[in-house]
Amino acid sequence: MAEEIMQKIVSLCKRRGFVFPDSEIYGGLANTWDYGPLGARLLQNIRNLWWKKFVETRSDIFPIESALIMNPKVWEASGHLASFTDPLVECKICHARVRADKPEDMEAHTADHPGEEVTWTEPKNFNLMFKTFIGTAQDSKQEVYLRPETAQGMFVNFKNVLTTERSRLPFGIAQMGKAFRNEITTGNFIFRTLEFEQMEIEYFVKSADWEAAFEGWKEQMWDWIIGLGIEESKLKWRAHEKDELSHYSKRTEDIEFEFPFGWGELYGLAYRTDFDLKNHSGKSVEELQYEDPETREKYYPHVVEPTFGLNRTALVVLLSAYTEEGERVYLKLDPRLAPYKVAVFPLVSNKPDIVEKARDTFAVLRSTFAVSWDDRGNIGKRYAAQDEIGTPWCVTVDYQTLEDNTVTVRDRDTAQQERVNVDQLQGYFQEKLK
Ligand code: GAP
Repeated sequence: MAEEIMQKIVSLCKRRGFVFPDSEIYGGLANTWDYGPLGARLLQNIRNLWWKKFVETRSDIFPIESALIMNPKVWEASGHLASFTDPLVECKICHARVRADKPEDMEAHTADHPGEEVTWTEPKNFNLMFKTFIGTAQDSKQEVYLRPETAQGMFVNFKNVLTTERSRLPFGIAQMGKAFRNEITTGNFIFRTLEFEQMEIEYFVKSADWEAAFEGWKEQMWDWIIGLGIEESKLKWRAHEKDELSHYSKRTEDIEFEFPFGWGELYGLAYRTDFDLKNHSGKSVEELQYEDPETREKYYPHVVEPTFGLNRTALVVLLSAYTEEGERVYLKLDPRLAPYKVAVFPLVSNKPDIVEKARDTFAVLRSTFAVSWDDRGNIGKRYAAQDEIGTPWCVTVDYQTLEDNTVTVRDRDTAQQERVNVDQLQGYFQEKLK
């Protein structure tokens, strides 16, 4: 059943243009996906909402966009070169490598060798960072890494933001962008991929204030995900055990979601102490302390880090929205997330007056909303096609429109229709999207 739901989502995503297997014409690349016209809109809508909630409407959070490839000394100081590893074992039959800390992956691999006795090498730590080279010679000293988290870009710019924004504690730096990890995993669609996008905040506080900040961020993260329309019963907080904490964290709690393949991490909230700022101060030319403007006391701020995976958000949104009612399949997306807010149809495509009026309506709405146009097949099929991609409202221009300037607006979730004057349509949808 669980597998069936995942397959249905994967197939809908491909068929309708949300997510395609990456470089499919060459047979694809494991754990790598591309986002199509609808998927790109969905991601952008999530980014926009996140940006509005955590950056635009706050005076204590400053955005940056740092480079994906940074000075490699960053990763030495941050501890990623030494500690950002997964334990891997190698199958002695086919030499495939599998996560030693995931018995389910080892079991799945054993099933690939029916009738054979699979034995494994001892676990070895494998660094998750992708290494590449600057310049042409591969043996040059210019080894660099694709960033495995966006966080370090914010730590190395701490002083720059502090100075340019004249910010005072507590304050945060936010950024969204790609991160890369050489993950050895088994599938699960866009859940765990080689490249993905993070939306992260490093929130700097006085050391005595970290617990209050942690509790505050727990509430804000919960608020965010519930605000996207995700069912509360499918979400829970899970605190990391001591032995699973990242090398930089004293306390981490994840928001987990009940995926069809089991509970899994959606977001993380970590107390990173002063680990990063202190280490960068010791290893770089800059002292990353904060000077209290009143007392003149100098100290390293402590960090509470809420981190949100964009692609996992998209997966959770799609899984939660997927609805089957008899023959009817639709995505019950929050209208703010829907790739298209409205679809416009002419009732018939062989009456020039109706088509022209529909075109005009489409053009007017498109200046404000993402609007789709469809004049193929019958109306029932057009509704079904829009339902399947989560378009909340369909507007049909018909014979009556030519008489009284009204159109039918059909609601995705209730299938109810009402007549609205064309001149009022923009305000009507704006009100609904609030
Ligand atoms: N800066 C902290 C940090 O990177 P993380 O828990 O390793 O923490 C943060 O990653 C978030 O990034 C996760 O909660 C998840 O949403 C997302 N994420 C991590 N690895 C991922 C992967 N391989 N594929 C997709 N999303 C991933």
